[in-house]
Amino acid sequence: MPSAPTPHTLRLHLQDEDATIALANRIAPLLCGRHPATKACGPGGRIHLRGELGAGKTSFVRALLRACGVTGRIKSPSYALLESYNVSNLYFYHFDFYRFSDAKEWLDAGFRELMTETAVVLIEWPEKAGDVLSPPDLDIFLEYADTSRNACLSAQSDKGRLWLTQLITPRL
Ligand SMILES: Nc1ncnc2c1ncn2[C@@H]1O[C@H](COP(=O)(O)OP(=O)(O)O)[C@@H](O)[C@H]1O
Ligand SMILES: [Mg+2]
Repeated sequence: MPSAPTPHTLRLHLQDEDATIALANRIAPLLCGRHPATKACGPGGRIHLRGELGAGKTSFVRALLRACGVTGRIKSPSYALLESYNVSNLYFYHFDFYRFSDAKEWLDAGFRELMTETAVVLIEWPEKAGDVLSPPDLDIFLEYADTSRNACLSAQSDKGRLWLTQLITPRL
């Protein structure tokens, strides 16, 4: 029997905020390394979140961080550029580049180093950082569909493709 092709994209309709949260809850174990399928690739990874203001990028990240075990306040990093968290020995970096103006600012601040270690890196408005960023494991594009949202998840690395395979595989 031929094996199923490796998925590169997954389109979902997210009816309401609960659906956005449910999606984050399914992705969280893949990032935290709690999902059995991630034994080989380990925890950590990078997600870029794109979409207009109010599309649900921060809602998604907040739910994902909660599901990974982050307790306490989860602020939007729109002013600080970066909020970071730590659960056990895994670090989480939540960026929002909406007000980001200068790539040099980023390099000077040493943020690039944060990308190389094993960490969960979640970036809103990655397009504002120009070509400073390398492709993520997974790109999530959220767009308005009347009062609900559509999501397009696209895998950009082997790890991202592994995640998508798990999201598509029906749960028993
Ligand atoms: N699937 C969805 N359908 C409708 N509303 C949603 C959905 N997901 C999130 N929301 C709502 O949309 C808004 C998203 O805000 P936010 O997450 O701050 O957006 P962004 O970070 O993209 O600017 C919140 O008010 C949230 O309750
Ligand atoms: Mg936001």
